[in-house]
Amino acid sequence: MILGKIIDNNKNLSEKIDKQKLPEHVAIIMDGNGRWATKKGLPRSFGHKQGVGVLKEIIKSSKKLGCKILTVYAFSTENWTRPTKEVDFLINLFSEVLEREIDEIHQESIKIKFIGDLVPFPESLKKIINSSETLTKNNKAFLLNVCVNYGGRQEIVNVAKDIALKSFSGEIKPCEVNEEFFNSALLTKGIKDPELLIRTSGEKRISNFLLWQLAYSEIYISDVMWPDFNELEFLKAIIDYQSRNRRFGGIESLPNESFEDSQCNS
Ligand code: FPP
Repeated sequence: MILGKIIDNNKNLSEKIDKQKLPEHVAIIMDGNGRWATKKGLPRSFGHKQGVGVLKEIIKSSKKLGCKILTVYAFSTENWTRPTKEVDFLINLFSEVLEREIDEIHQESIKIKFIGDLVPFPESLKKIINSSETLTKNNKAFLLNVCVNYGGRQEIVNVAKDIALKSFSGEIKPCEVNEEFFNSALLTKGIKDPELLIRTSGEKRISNFLLWQLAYSEIYISDVMWPDFNELEFLKAIIDYQSRNRRFGGIESLPNESFEDSQCNS
């Protein structure tokens, strides 16, 4: 009965979605796992475990809807400051989940890519990441980017270093450095910028996530904690996105109206 109602709700909402105006790339800050668990009197690790199931649901929903790319923030450069026990738990969870889910990910023709500095992770995790990326590299239906040990500032600093080195060695001239060049040196090279950023748990921050790439993304804050997020909440975010007027710093073009006309009318 309850399941039937959920399916009806999701169906009603998905009918409201304009398939021609879908965001191709959605980025998500999956926040609130710890607080969700603590509120229930459970260890924080329960929240992270629950969060994995939610991630699975959102990958399926976004792919079914017709989105093409999902980029999720799974571990930031700042997350190392958490207690060792939690950091170790998360690292083990990444390995466990990848090992368990990679065949299904591959069968679904999903390409998985890890974005961030993998160097500090244990060899065992690096090995699974590597084999998962290799196995799925030619998949075309959907791209899942998982940001681990990722920080937006660090990414930009690394690009700046790269440019400085190339300029010093004469490989490029300073006048050749432009947005296109910068884009091609980012960890997300070749991937279009997200049109939509979703952050759960009500926090209104970007938290060092995709600082360059989110320049013109629409931001949707959900008050729901990540372990309680679901397809219905995701569809709400998409509907909200579709109601936005994306002007990219310009003005909405009004037919047959010049700048002077619009000044007179205002
Ligand atoms: C933020 O909640 C969540 C994380 C730091 C980890 C998210 C990771 C997963 C859901 C697992 C994903 C697994 C794979 C393989 C991609 P928080 O701990 O910051 O919550 P809080 O703000 O309430 O403390």
